[in-house]
Amino acid sequence: MIKSEEARRLFDHLTTAVLMFDRELRLVAINTSGEDLLSVSARHVVGLKAQEIWPDAPMFTGTLERSSATQEPLIERGMHLQLALGKAVTVDYTVTPVNDEEAPMELLVELINADVRRRIAREEALITQHEAVRALVRGMAHEIKNPLGGLRGAAQLLGRELNNAALAEYTRIIIGEADRLQRLVDRMLAPHSLPKKRSVNIHEVLEYLCSLVEAEITAEVRIVRDYDPSLPELQADREQLIQALLNIMRNAVEAVGASGEITLRTRPERQITIGQKRYKLVIRLDVIDNGPGIPPEIEHGIFYPMVTGRANGTGLGLPIAQMLIQLHGGLIEFDSQPGETVFTVWLPLERENG
Ligand SMILES: Nc1ncnc2c1ncn2[C@@H]1O[C@H](COP(=O)(O)OP(=O)(O)OP(=O)(O)O)[C@@H](O)[C@H]1O
Ligand SMILES: [Mg+2]
Repeated sequence: MIKSEEARRLFDHLTTAVLMFDRELRLVAINTSGEDLLSVSARHVVGLKAQEIWPDAPMFTGTLERSSATQEPLIERGMHLQLALGKAVTVDYTVTPVNDEEAPMELLVELINADVRRRIAREEALITQHEAVRALVRGMAHEIKNPLGGLRGAAQLLGRELNNAALAEYTRIIIGEADRLQRLVDRMLAPHSLPKKRSVNIHEVLEYLCSLVEAEITAEVRIVRDYDPSLPELQADREQLIQALLNIMRNAVEAVGASGEITLRTRPERQITIGQKRYKLVIRLDVIDNGPGIPPEIEHGIFYPMVTGRANGTGLGLPIAQMLIQLHGGLIEFDSQPGETVFTVWLPLERENG
């Protein structure tokens, strides 16, 4: 139990989630970080036993019991906790028995969000990929653009000199293909322009995308909206946002085939780190499809250009989307298995400290 006012204030300002249990494993205190991490309110859970609060986590109760019995501190990693409203979190935690005259036998539990730890490790890999992508794109664009211009010019001159219509057809093909390559290179270079940011409503953008995608598809693909209407507007370049999200949605449509289902879910997330920056508030957009999943052999490279699992794919959709979202300070991640592929787009709203 926390007696003095000052200790209570300190307790609540800790960024680590801290819980205290008595010898019967009843929760006696939880700080604000703990309430945030575990999506509970102290008013509702203080006084309850650990197993009443998290009935699905016998491992947690077991650890508390062991630490209490042995009076030894314990550390556990990767405990999965089912939270309210269908949310879940994976945590690492330590249990320390505290035994003094003031507080006979209490257990101090410190928890950290392991989802964040895993996410940061993955994210660093993604950002490195992103830099590799940029370098490759720049290099290729240089190498392709100049000879392409020469090739096209020469074919045009040649076409004018030729009197034979059948031969002129060949020059037309050269010019046509050179133009196609030019568009490809332009597509790879386009995202380098800085975003022109305005206030954008994410749901308005998603509805616009739905209308585009619904017009394109003939099969009976169902789009399910699961929006959180409380999300504030974000500062973004609407065109770039549309391009990025369209690339992700088109992939989902291509993956599900006929009678598939695509869910668009938006949620606010608090206290999220993207890159090295910490944000108070972030939009989390999940594009979920029930298709066969990303082919395992390309899974690690899908954010690199030219990596494709489709016969007629160019493999540019995702690297471009990743670049555009990163220009907005955000990040795209994915989690894929047969029957459920989730592309998560993180878009920052509010920086920590203003
Ligand atoms: N939702 C998804 N489900 C299954 N596989 C996917 C999904 N999204 C992407 N992929 C895989 O990742 C690959 C790369 O996607 P990306 O959008 O970068 O290129 P692409 O779709 O092949 O070509 P394009 O440049 O036309 O978009 C795809 O070819 C596909 O194999
Ligand atoms: Mg694509």
